[in-house]
Amino acid sequence: MSEQAIDLKKRRFITSATSVVGAVGVGFVAWPFLSTWMPSARAKSASAPVDINISKLENGQLVRVLWRKKPVWVFKRDKTTIANLNTMNSMLSDPNSDETSQQPTYAKNAYRSINPNIAVIIGICTHLGCSPTYRPEIGAADLGGDLWKGGFYCPCHGSKFDLAGRVFSGVPAPTNLIIPPYHFVSDSLIRIGIGPKAS
Ligand code: FES
Repeated sequence: MSEQAIDLKKRRFITSATSVVGAVGVGFVAWPFLSTWMPSARAKSASAPVDINISKLENGQLVRVLWRKKPVWVFKRDKTTIANLNTMNSMLSDPNSDETSQQPTYAKNAYRSINPNIAVIIGICTHLGCSPTYRPEIGAADLGGDLWKGGFYCPCHGSKFDLAGRVFSGVPAPTNLIIPPYHFVSDSLIRIGIGPKAS
């Protein structure tokens, strides 16, 4: 086969593979809690910031984007969730986010976020690096019943985190989940990878 023919064949394969990935991305968006959004063009460079449009994000909905090959969760908290975060302290290992390596200074607050309604958290367990499962349902019987106000459960060794990514006491994970640098470009656009200019 000539070099030109091989090149054409390779190009056809790349085109069809890209189409399949696109179709999978659209399918995930319809999933109510955990979905993957196609990254913006910025994500094509491994170290580049990633933009995510949250204009259609609904309360309780979580989407996942890749930034520097790490999964980043972006989800919307409703009023009940925000109020519940203020009742969790006695169950948490680091409720005030005193471990400074786990978040930027602008996310050192009860919600670990710039805007209490929107959470941006790296979805990697701080124990041995598994990806915790999103469990937003209040009162889940397998996670503590009435004491469970929604959060994340790591299936590998049972660590639990609240909906601000704060780790529960007495679990294998030693620290809160990491908050990446990010800022709001506008009310509906978040840029992950770069903090606010003022910070
Ligand atoms: S990796 Fe999450 S609890 Fe061990």
